Amino acid sequence: MTLRIFFIITKISNRRMVDSNVLRYQDRDGLRFSGRFGLSTVLGSTWIWLIHLEKDKAMSKSQSIPNISDATLRDAIKKEYENVAIDPNKGYHFHTGREAANRIGYDKTLYDTVPEKNIASFAGTGNPFNLGPINPGDVVVDVGSGSGFDSFIASKIVGPNGRVIGIDMTPAMLKKARYGASEVGTTNVEFRKGHAEDLPLPDEFADVIISNGVLNLTPDKKKTLSEWERVLKPGGRLYIGDILVAKPIPQSALEDISLWTG
Ligand SMILES: C[S@@+](CC[C@H](N)C(=O)[O-])C[C@H]1O[C@@H](n2cnc3c(N)ncnc32)[C@H](O)[C@@H]1O
Repeated sequence: MTLRIFFIITKISNRRMVDSNVLRYQDRDGLRFSGRFGLSTVLGSTWIWLIHLEKDKAMSKSQSIPNISDATLRDAIKKEYENVAIDPNKGYHFHTGREAANRIGYDKTLYDTVPEKNIASFAGTGNPFNLGPINPGDVVVDVGSGSGFDSFIASKIVGPNGRVIGIDMTPAMLKKARYGASEVGTTNVEFRKGHAEDLPLPDEFADVIISNGVLNLTPDKKKTLSEWERVLKPGGRLYIGDILVAKPIPQSALEDISLWTG
């Protein structure tokens, strides 16, 4: 079956042309498709496109999703990131800290004022700052801000006339991020408790939403993305660092809840 969906996720205002990539997607409620996405320039602005989605052949039979409730999954995710906040060097099945930031290729000067404890609990999967501009004076929302690594970088870029709001659901991460803000002594960044699917923010609030390693943890991607769209100003930009699965996942891995949490 070909869905032939021509779906614009969001408009962004940088002007780079990037080749389209294959996207394979499987939702916990069984929605499966693969397709192409890319960035292209139309009328002087750049748009992210998701085009020509197809029901995914490789995944259509084999990928039965374990019956884990959203609440159970959310609790497991909270526990995992509570550990990353409290004991960042314990060892996880994903990269953390300076090592992760180096692998991803962050410019070190961007985070030279971030406290070491906050760097240690960095658990991002990409560099949202590579995706387009953030300008002085912008209002930036960092969804799933963790220990605040990207929020502190954004706070440096937007400067005293800008504002950064980090949102996270894990109390230990919020505590660590707030500690970092008081160490840095910055007044343009704050951290609020909330969920990616239900942000404690008004409509059309943000110039930019960044999110790093979080969308893959949300059970309902459609709900989450439409919530982010609600909070973006018209013409606002969405920069996502995340992971995409490029081949079917073994059933044993699908049933391992610890692999759904990081
Ligand atoms: C992989 S970590 C990334 C943290 C941060 N963005 C970074 O790059 O270091 C995921 C973070 O998202 C938070 N998180 C996961 N699911 C969430 C949700 N549905 N709503 C809010 N926060 C969530 C976790 O508490 C954790 O701090």
